[in-house]
Amino acid sequence: MKKDSDVTSKFLCKLSDLENLSCKSFTVDHPQKSSRIFIIRKADDVFGYLNVCPHALAPLEWNPDDFLDEKKEFIICSMHGAKFTIEEGTCVEGPCNGVGLTKVNLNITDGTIFIDNPKKVG
Ligand code: FES
Repeated sequence: MKKDSDVTSKFLCKLSDLENLSCKSFTVDHPQKSSRIFIIRKADDVFGYLNVCPHALAPLEWNPDDFLDEKKEFIICSMHGAKFTIEEGTCVEGPCNGVGLTKVNLNITDGTIFIDNPKKVG
């Protein structure tokens, strides 16, 4: 029987649940805490990050599942406007002072998105 500690990936959603340039947030539960993450689809790629801004450690979204700027070119923090690249989470503008978002490792298998090593997130 597989123990909870043996889990190496966790189902998040289907790729088809995300339109191009849309986002979805999740909570990843651990035995003693939980971590907020979000994922972004761009064409056939999906990128994932902790939902924590490096500037003041605030959640990033404007509204539920709304993490992008008006042109959908960058992730933008709702608190003070720091901007990050979609592909790498690199800080490009604002008070993040060169500190990027923390990536979470995803894998897409048969059109299904999983987070790798969910216990190591956060
Ligand atoms: S908390 Fe994100 S820019 Fe300040």
